[in-house]
Order: sequence, then structure tokens, then C-alpha cells
Amino acid sequence: MKVAGSICVLYLGSALLVAACDSDPGDSNGSGETSFVPKDFLSEYVEVRNCRFSIEHDSINIRVLTSSEHAVAFTDGIYPFPEGTIIAKAEYDDMNCSELLGVTAMRRLATGTSPETGDWEWQRLDAELVPQSIDQKTCAGCHTGCTEGRDMTCTNP
Ligand code: HEC
Repeated sequence: MKVAGSICVLYLGSALLVAACDSDPGDSNGSGETSFVPKDFLSEYVEVRNCRFSIEHDSINIRVLTSSEHAVAFTDGIYPFPEGTIIAKAEYDDMNCSELLGVTAMRRLATGTSPETGDWEWQRLDAELVPQSIDQKTCAGCHTGCTEGRDMTCTNP
């Protein structure tokens, strides 16, 4: 991966960062945070909302995917989602959803454990699934507003 490669060159000599270079590219941004979305999610997860324009971002097409055991909860609206549910929004540059731009994702925490983030953990990942730095409360803030009674999810299946 390009990013991991340049970190290796820049920081060769630092044991910590050299170790980061050895880790699977796409798993870490060097800060220890790893993607909770599995690398093969595009083939392993079930699509619960097909390729359509995003209402959040102009001109970006998105798909929403989740693991097969949680797909019914999403499509049938069985709330709250079980702890551990991961929902991924894949963002694309083209109408057919083939050029992946990046992913945003939410993972359900135990109810009552993180009221300030809506009991979800939030991530923004680049196309290689490397976590980007975000403010959890910004994600949660908007999702609280768009989802009366839908356990923080915004999109219609
Ligand atoms: C300005 C409001 C807003 C903010 C801020 C926001 N979202 Fe969303 N999000 C939406 C909307 C609206 C949708 C519905 C799908 C669409 O049209 O893009 C959505 C959909 C999603 C989905 C698909 C599941 C669902 O809720 O339908 C995920 C996952 C997601 N967002 C993650 C994030 C993460 C992570 C962040 C912070 C980095 C974030 N969102 C910030 C508005 C927002």
C-alpha cells in the first residue's frame, strides 16, 4: 500500500513504525486503531440498501452492507441492533458502485455504555480500509437527528 510504504521510508529506524509497516496494510493507521470492518466485507457482507445516491453527500453513490446474521434486523427494522452489529456504508465515485472511494461504518456497543456516541462506535475508512481520524460525536450527532426510533441508522433499506 502506498501510504504504509511511505511511512516505512520516512520512519525507518523507529522500531514502532517499522513494526507498523509489517502489519497488514489496511488494518492500521499507525495509531493502533484498526478497522472493525473486515477486509473482504464487499464479498462477505449482505447488501441491505442497493447502489443509489447518498442523501448525505452530493453526487456520491452508496451501498449499505452488514453481516448476514444482522441483515434481517436492518431490513425488517428490529431495534435495537444486537451488540456487535457492524453496518458499513460503501461510498463510490461512479453510478454503478464499482470505484470504491471509502467506507463509513458503525459498530453497536452494549446499550448504555456510550451515551455520548449513541451506543455505537464510528469509523471512517479509506478505500484500503485504513481508519481516518474522525470525531465520534459528529457522526453520532447527525445520526441522532435523522433517525427517530431506528437505533441511529439513517438510510431506508
Ligand atoms: C450530516 C449528517 C451526517 C453525518 C455527520 C454523518 N452521517 Fe452517516 N449517514 C447520514 C445519512 C443521511 C445516511 C443515509 C445514507 C445516505 O444517504 O448517505 C447515513 C448513513 C450512514 C451509514 C449507513 C447506515 C445508516 O445509518 O443508514 C453509516 C455506517 C454511516 N452513515 C456512518 C457515519 C460515520 C462513521 C460518520 C462520521 C464519520 C457519519 N456517518 C456522519 C448522515 C450523516
